[in-house]
Amino acid sequence: MTAKRVAVIGLGQRIAHVLLAMEEVGWELDIAGYADPAPVGLSILKRDVRAHGDARSLLEDGPFDLVMIGSPNHLHYEHLLAAFAAGYPVFAEKPIVRTEEETFALARHLNAAPPLYIGLVMRSMPIVREVIARVDGGALGEIVSMDATEHLPPEHGAYLARNWRRKQAWGGSFLLDKVCHDFDIFGRIAGARPARVASFGGKRIFEPERATEHEAYSAVDAGWSGANDAFHSDMDVADHQVALVEYANGMRLSFHSNSHVSLTERRWYVAGTKGTLIADLVRNRLMVRSAHDRGKPERIDYGGRTQDSHNGADQAMARDLLAALDGRAAFPVTPRESMEAGLTVMAIDRAMREGCVVDCAKMWRDYDAAMNQ
Ligand SMILES: NC(=O)c1ccc[n+]([C@@H]2O[C@H](COP(=O)([O-])OP(=O)(O)OC[C@H]3O[C@@H](n4cnc5c(N)ncnc54)[C@H](O)[C@@H]3O)[C@@H](O)[C@H]2O)c1
Repeated sequence: MTAKRVAVIGLGQRIAHVLLAMEEVGWELDIAGYADPAPVGLSILKRDVRAHGDARSLLEDGPFDLVMIGSPNHLHYEHLLAAFAAGYPVFAEKPIVRTEEETFALARHLNAAPPLYIGLVMRSMPIVREVIARVDGGALGEIVSMDATEHLPPEHGAYLARNWRRKQAWGGSFLLDKVCHDFDIFGRIAGARPARVASFGGKRIFEPERATEHEAYSAVDAGWSGANDAFHSDMDVADHQVALVEYANGMRLSFHSNSHVSLTERRWYVAGTKGTLIADLVRNRLMVRSAHDRGKPERIDYGGRTQDSHNGADQAMARDLLAALDGRAAFPVTPRESMEAGLTVMAIDRAMREGCVVDCAKMWRDYDAAMNQ
């Protein structure tokens, strides 16, 4: 295999870890350069890479086999358009973009865009592939309802309260940055788009009156535009949130997330007419039983739990990315699915902000119109 010549826009922690995972699974990489004013990922990569003043000058140094975008979420749109103009295949981190307006605007560019792969890394996980296969294979019958959670430990919550994700202007929202992965899969399981959503949430944990001295609250470096103190930052996103979603085909979902728990959980409970499934994404374990079976449930333990809680997902995605780039297989998630996952979460956040049930019909009309332009 000849080395893949790669350009990086936004060499942060995430892209550095993805690059290392790519090498781990056999990519031959020539990291030709990066554009990033404060590349926090360099110390993770532990090598010299040529710096460029901005994305434009980096992209002029092509050709590249892949342009990788790992900047904060508010810059994705601008960086995607620059990469599209250069014409090389693009890998961009999730969420694909940060607002409804950016989604509609991006949709208008997609037809003429080069191949685009979005880092919705859960799609590459064996446990998630199995969940989708069980649903598609009919083992659960028709999916009637599901509930799901994502609960983070204080270390992670405090990082979100100090990192750029604390600001809507940079991150979008708590749910958009953290669980667009999950809502991508929920839409895939439902096989339909959300019709109506409701949500409550806000900031009740990382408030000045709860300020506590503990190493957990400064365990992780806050990085680009970081704040010093989780309890006294200018955070304007939620630190906990609940949501209800009714999909167009009648499937109903409830979701609960909290960023300061001592019993961490990321769990999907999928109830179908013929069977029930629980995917425990923290322990990487699946449990399935058919509706009238009273024996022991089928249990699959995927093992491979890792410190970064990604449980080997990055390596699996790196293999999928190489296969897609070499034309051996389709990447497991499309730009369209990535945009629909983002819009779903944006509608949920709108319901939270406005204190009402949001009817999603107009949003999907606007999106389809933009896609078809
Ligand atoms: N798929 C996943 O599981 C996953 C996990 C973590 C992060 N992410 C995503 O990856 C992206 C980066 O997150 P991160 O955790 O690495 O954040 P980070 O803060 O570690 O990295 C962001 C980098 O962008 C750089 N940057 C800032 N302004 C820039 C500009 N104008 N041009 C180029 N670079 C600029 C910063 O200096 C920093 O190095 C985000 O979109 C995030 O949502 C995805």
